[in-house]
Order: sequence, then C-alpha cells, then structure tokens
Amino acid sequence: MPDAPQPVFPKRIFSGIQPSGGLTLGNYLGALKRFVEAQDNGIETVYCIVDLHAITVWQEPAKLRHATRELAAGFIAAGIDPARSILFNQSQVPAHAELAWIFNCVARMGWLRRMTQFKDKAGKHAEEASVGLFAYPNLMAADILAYHATHVPVGEDQKQHLELTRDIAIKFNHDYGVNFFPVVEPVIEGAATRVMSLRDGTKKMSKSDPSDQSRINLTDDSDTIAQKFRKARTDPEPLPETLDGLAERPEARNLVNIYAALGDTTPEAVIAQFGGQGFGTFKPALADLAVAKLSPINAEMSRLMQDVAEIDRILGDGAERAHAIAEPVLRDTREIVGLIRSRR
Ligand code: AMP
Ligand code: TRP
Repeated sequence: MPDAPQPVFPKRIFSGIQPSGGLTLGNYLGALKRFVEAQDNGIETVYCIVDLHAITVWQEPAKLRHATRELAAGFIAAGIDPARSILFNQSQVPAHAELAWIFNCVARMGWLRRMTQFKDKAGKHAEEASVGLFAYPNLMAADILAYHATHVPVGEDQKQHLELTRDIAIKFNHDYGVNFFPVVEPVIEGAATRVMSLRDGTKKMSKSDPSDQSRINLTDDSDTIAQKFRKARTDPEPLPETLDGLAERPEARNLVNIYAALGDTTPEAVIAQFGGQGFGTFKPALADLAVAKLSPINAEMSRLMQDVAEIDRILGDGAERAHAIAEPVLRDTREIVGLIRSRR
C-alpha cells in the first residue's frame, strides 16, 4: 500500500531560550539575531521563554522572575516585535507540559540516554540530577510540536535535541497511524552557530561558565566588552591570508566568526580584510564592532526593564495568542491517543 500523503504544514518558526542567567553573545549570534531575521522575512514566528526548562536545575524564584523579564527585554531590544511575533513564557500555556507528558510515553529510555547535553550537565552526578533534566528533550519536542512548527532556528548545540523531536513525531505518527505532527527542519545557519569561550577556543561560550571573562553578556557595558576582547586568549601569529589557515587555530577562528556574524558578512570577507594583520589590530576592530552592535541593545534592555508591568503585559498577550494555536492541537492529540473528552 502506498504511504498516505504527508499533509502540507504551513511554514511556522518556533524557538526558545532558557531564562537561566543572562544572555550571552552566543545566544545573540546563534539564536536571537537569527530570530529577528526570520521575523523580518515575514514568516510566522513564535518565540518562547522556556521557564519550565530552566527549573530542571535549581533556580532561586526571585532570580527566575528577574531572568524571565530580562530575557523578554532582550528579545524586544534585539528586534523582536511582539505585534509581529508571538513572544511568551512557556509556563503560561499548559499545552507544553501536557504534550510533554504524552511524549514521555512515546520517547524511549535509550533515546534519552544518548543525549549529550544531559551527560554534560549531569556529569558525574547523574543519580542526583532531576528527572526533569533527563526528560528535558521531550518538553522541547512538545514546545515545537504543540504549534505544528516546521522550522526551528537554534545554535549547533541543539541539533541532537531536534533529531529527537523528529524521532518523536515519526514514532507518534507511526504508532497511531496518522500524519499529525510535522517532521521539523533544524535551521542551523550563519557564521556563528557555535560561539566559543574567549578563554578556551574548544569550549562553547556559555552562561554557566564560572569565568565571566569567558563570555560577553548582553548586559556588559562598552568598557567591559572591549576589555574582554582585548584579553581574549589567542595565539601569537597574525591572521592568515586564507580561511584554511584557521583550521588548527580555534581561538583565532572564533574571533573571525564572531566578527563575520556581527558585521553581517562572511569569514572569507573578514580574512580578506584582516589577513596578515596581528591581533593588536584585529581585536580593537572587533571590540569596536561589538560595542556598536551591542550597546544599543544593552541600552534598550535597561530602558525596558524599568517598566516590568509592561513586559508582563506583553508576555501575557503573547501567551493568549500562543494558547489559541496550541490548544486545538492538544484537543486533536487527546482524540488521537484515545483520551475521552468527558468534561465539556
Ligand atoms: P540556551 O541559553 O541554552 O537556552 O540557548 C538558547 C539558544 O542559544 C539555543 O538556540 C542555543 O543553541 C543558542 N546558543 C547558546 N549558546 C550558544 C553559543 N555559544 N553559540 C551559538 N549558539 C548558542
Ligand atoms: N533546549 C534549548 C536550549 O537550551 C531551549 C529550547 C527549549 C528550545 N525549547 C525549545 C529551542 C524549542 C528551540 C525549540 O538552548
């Protein structure tokens, strides 16, 4: 028998960021900046502050509230327009947690055991990690599939979670004999899909690195940004004349990629401009570019944070619109699974 035709799902973009600590340059270049580009291309965009993901590791409640609002301010300051995109916090739309439970019953233990992020985060203390940290990718799949989203822009580190999302959609559709959930496309593009630590070019720039010197925070002032780039670890050689010359030089390659992503250009063009020059020239140029791009965002975030009630109102409005999309998907999901609707 031929396969049933795949329904055509209209293009819809979904992505999320955790409100655990502040935003880094990695979040900005790998995620936020690309979210804005998608919105500006006129595609339907849904962006979520994933507070339920954040609590998979301990969060001080007051800090979580602050980080959630600050992240909302970061989205808006970076160019997300709450009128054109849906911007909301995950916990306000019950469909996420409910669909995650159903996916807990679809995904297999072996699939989750392979997730490298869990292994990295739980480390040697896997027995003490929360069950939520282990099941985290199922909630991420629920975030995406509750909207029948088709495209998910993320940094490189999320690729494995998106493959799991695809596996969950395929298994659900297969087990229940439906073509209900789309098989999503990861969108991992651009010069900065993996921004590395400024202290160690083999490690990802991360909000959880104990060294603040390892990252640029979106809340850093201009002097701090310049000082961090000046002190960034590099080798003593000048920049090479061709891209191949960066192959064995992770720190140099990282700074070139950052410059390219910030300047909306390519690493090739950066090498064409700076090849043969030393870091004494390149680092100040990079710092200037970073300050020019980041300081308006930083200033706008501070301005927005002065009116927390307005931020909460924007998130509430986004949650209403998100709920209106996700609830009918959940109603159909319950129907497919055989959960009877006894309450009117
Ligand atoms: P998180 O802060 O872990 O919630 O990540 C939010 C988004 O930022 C995800 O799409 C990540 O892939 C992306 N991201 C986080 N760190 C980096 C990095 N160092 N380079 C590129 N993208 C990143
Ligand atoms: N797990 C992602 C991260 O840590 C955040 C996230 C949660 C997400 N739900 C998502 C990203 C849905 C894309 C789509 O970076």
